[in-house]
Amino acid sequence: MDHFELKNGVLHAEDVALTAIAEAVGTPVYVYSRATLERHARVFAEGLAGVPDKHIAFAVKSNPNLAVLRVLAREGYGADVVSGGEMDRALAAGMPAADIVFSGVGKTAAEMKAACAVGLGQFNLESEEEGVELAEIAAQMGVKATATLRVNPDVDAGTHAKISTGKAENKFGVAYDQAAAIYARLSALEGLNLRGLALHIGSQITSLEPSRAAFAKMGGLMRELRAAGFTVSHMDLGGGLGVPYQIGAQLPGPAEYGAMVAEVTGDWGATIMFEPGRVITGNAGVLLTEVIRVKPGVTAPFVVVDAAMNDLVRPAMYDAWHDFAAVRPTGERMVANIVGPICESSDTFAMGRDIDVVAAGDLGVFRTAGAYGATMANTYNSRPLVPEVMVDGDKWAIVAERIEPATILAAEHVPDWLR
Ligand code: LLP
Repeated sequence: MDHFELKNGVLHAEDVALTAIAEAVGTPVYVYSRATLERHARVFAEGLAGVPDKHIAFAVKSNPNLAVLRVLAREGYGADVVSGGEMDRALAAGMPAADIVFSGVGKTAAEMKAACAVGLGQFNLESEEEGVELAEIAAQMGVKATATLRVNPDVDAGTHAKISTGKAENKFGVAYDQAAAIYARLSALEGLNLRGLALHIGSQITSLEPSRAAFAKMGGLMRELRAAGFTVSHMDLGGGLGVPYQIGAQLPGPAEYGAMVAEVTGDWGATIMFEPGRVITGNAGVLLTEVIRVKPGVTAPFVVVDAAMNDLVRPAMYDAWHDFAAVRPTGERMVANIVGPICESSDTFAMGRDIDVVAAGDLGVFRTAGAYGATMANTYNSRPLVPEVMVDGDKWAIVAERIEPATILAAEHVPDWLR
């Protein structure tokens, strides 16, 4: 459920008409609903009621906006970060360092040092080499780095290949059959407090079965390690729970997911950790855009909008579907191709789609754009970096400013020898 609804014929975010935001801020612009974010955070946590000992770390990569992080910090969420930049954001939002998990396959020495210096809660190690390096850094600083070992369970998450992470050929984690030996060697290192295992098999997962299989496999490894005398007190199950991108799509929600986790991990006697991203932010945001013009096409008209693949790259990158809706729908429908102004054919949001009738100057939204939307935006074709707005009841605020091409141009320099 979200709080983007028609009121008096106009699409609103909570109690604010999207027309008002477009008029004041211009388009394209991302609009987030504070109430929806909060609701998703609560529904996810409530779904895990059957898991007594848990830690929830919001996957910052899905939406790193400071105001979004602040909402989640207020809900008691920690953070899952994959760079020093994300760590700084989580800290700036008021998330305690102890509640932050550092994931990612390429943590640099500088990032590990900075994280040790603030007393970061947990590092999810992606390789033995990384563990050895972290142990040295921590020992030099006179601290012990708390860590888990990320294992690649070789399970197909059944999602798009580009967001699948738990197959043997993917770059993530250590191979399942080598994990026990690596765990043993890393456990012996002075600078590390190795306390468990981690996995994450992919994103936008729409069935519970791949996760169930992967978690059960990790449970087996946990038992093997414990039998050999090692401590495995924490199990980080990653993120990945999918969201409905199309109205009416049926897929397992937090309650079903939580029940499955409770069933699989019930007798583990471990702290279970979660890294949800999309399920919290996806349906809490829309990308608001204006139709520049409608151009005739051979198969269907092209609705050319002022948002483009640089603002929302998911359709171009993953063939992703985002529902499109008019802000002032008339009730009439048309079949159209929705495209942006960028000069390549991948700048296409939808082909042959049945949509609300729109004309030049009309406003529309791409729904389910709160996750992996603004955070993946860029300035291709020297377009502005898209701004972000958050609505809370009948108030709203700009939570990320539009960065104009002139600002970016001002940071570029022609060397003397080219003058
Ligand atoms: N934990 C780890 C270690 C991850 O790599 C990810 C996402 C998550 C948690 C959060 O997953 P979620 O709950 O959001 O599915 N840009 C792509 C998605 C990439 C996901 C990368 N990792 C997209 O737009 O679909």
